[in-house]
Amino acid sequence: MNDFKQILADYTAKFNQEIGRFFPFPEKSERRVTEAMHYSLTRGGKRLRPFLVYETAALFGVGFEQSINTAIALEMLHTYSLIHDDLPAMDDDDLRRGFPTCHKQFDEATAIIAGDGLLTYAFEIMSYPQTAPDANMRCRLIEMLARAAGAFDGMVAGQMLDLIASAYNTSEQNREEIIKRIEEMKTGRLLQYAVEAGATLGGATSEEAEKLRNYSRKIGIAFQIADDILDATGNESKVGKTLHKDSQQNKLTFISLYGLETAKKIAKELIHSAINDIAVFGEKAKNLQDLAHYIITRNH
Ligand code: IPE
Ligand code: IPE
Ligand code: MG
Ligand code: MG
Ligand code: MG
Repeated sequence: MNDFKQILADYTAKFNQEIGRFFPFPEKSERRVTEAMHYSLTRGGKRLRPFLVYETAALFGVGFEQSINTAIALEMLHTYSLIHDDLPAMDDDDLRRGFPTCHKQFDEATAIIAGDGLLTYAFEIMSYPQTAPDANMRCRLIEMLARAAGAFDGMVAGQMLDLIASAYNTSEQNREEIIKRIEEMKTGRLLQYAVEAGATLGGATSEEAEKLRNYSRKIGIAFQIADDILDATGNESKVGKTLHKDSQQNKLTFISLYGLETAKKIAKELIHSAINDIAVFGEKAKNLQDLAHYIITRNH
């Protein structure tokens, strides 16, 4: 394993150990929903968003304990988006992170409310004083998360556009614009939040925050292009999802627009530029730079 993969694996192990304390599992009849939430949260997952929160906050000397609540809340919110994304009414997937999707393991109604449960719990955790002792900072982090995840230019808006765009024929001219917005909103916004939340926890100056924002926007788009490339060309047992769904479901992606080679080139350019954006942080930002590179070289 190269150094970066080991660093990510170590963080992931530490992160995963924290999840248990958020799930007391009382012996109540309704515990099925918390079991479904816990199931989806603990069956795999690269934990890149939590890692981004942690690494960005660490640039400013903020430690694991001080960033863990934000990291967990974001991973819960991301996991909710995956549970709902996999539902029959949406992408209709049976496999997620190498395991049966939530609605396959439990049932559709349970999967819907497990997603609701994770989304709601994420905001509860964000409101805890341990998330950030300063109440103003906590409010800011909560507002940023709600915007990133929401229906006005956030992840929910991206999911809507993704569904609409695959259902209707859009003119060639509009297509590029629409695809950019889909990639930016459905995936980019939460990755962007991870970095911006880390910068907020760390008390970054506006110049520092600007550099990090540029980095995060670029890796956000490149991340979804890489996801689309894996859907088209990946190895199913490694990716842990059913492949070739995008072409089957007529999804608009950079690959459908430009073809595979150009999509790869665009992702690579975005990543190089993102790495450049944070060069000012020097050696301290090495893990963030390695992560950017990993985003387009990963096989899952
Ligand atoms: C998958 O995200 C869904 C997208 C937003 C493209 P990840 O590739 O980060 O999924 P996990 O969390 O590692 O399973
Ligand atoms: C989903 O994009 C992004 C989300 C907001 C969940 P995809 O539909 O391409 O994600 P996968 O490929 O199912 O993980
Ligand atoms: Mg989808
Ligand atoms: Mg999907
Ligand atoms: Mg995909």
